[in-house]
Amino acid sequence: MVRLRPFRAGDEVHVAAWGKDPEVVRHYFGRRTLAEVEGPLVELRAAGGRIVRAFESAEGELLGWVELRNIAWRSGAAELRICIGRRDRWGMGYGTAAVRAILAEAAARRLRHVHLRVALWNQRAIASYRKCGFRAQAVLRAGRRRAEGMEDLMLMTVDLASQAFVTQSVV
Ligand SMILES: CC(C)(COP(=O)(O)OP(=O)(O)OC[C@H]1O[C@@H](n2cnc3c(N)ncnc32)[C@H](O)[C@@H]1OP(=O)(O)O)[C@@H](O)C(=O)NCCC(=O)NCCS
Repeated sequence: MVRLRPFRAGDEVHVAAWGKDPEVVRHYFGRRTLAEVEGPLVELRAAGGRIVRAFESAEGELLGWVELRNIAWRSGAAELRICIGRRDRWGMGYGTAAVRAILAEAAARRLRHVHLRVALWNQRAIASYRKCGFRAQAVLRAGRRRAEGMEDLMLMTVDLASQAFVTQSVV
């Protein structure tokens, strides 16, 4: 349903447009702007602490990106973030497919534990993560400060060793 691939020349235009959509920025867990994936969208190699993948539909439409960050190779742990930049593509199953695909890559690279933080109000994201095997571990009251005020967060984790992930091809 989705294909993961490295960012490539030309993607910057789309990422910049997504960063100008206030609803996308409000939902995304990262910084208030999407600056951290702007600039040269070079793929960071697995030897580093971050794997960033763009993902596109079967028709080749760029939809968003998914990443593993703060990777601790020795302990096998990493944090997941995802953003579908096209708001009109939310709720169509793409996010769940992209998360499953990067978890398959994480498992293939012998990572064992993936965690994430999500705003408690972001029920679409939580439902999607649950379908991928993530389970709630804790609620962090007032865990994050945003322009709108303090926000409660949910910490979710998945144990890759206990899940069967189908490895998908990554270009
Ligand atoms: C979060 C995100 C990756 C999810 O991907 P998606 O393709 O939209 O989600 P999916 O269609 O795969 O799954 C969403 C599920 O949530 C359900 N859902 C949607 N709105 C919901 C709501 N308000 N409450 C509960 N469940 C809801 C859908 O029914 C669907 O479940 P189903 O397939 O069992 O019916 C995507 O919406 C996104 O990138 N949003 C913007 C950025 C963001 O929120 N990132 C995550 C920050 S932690």
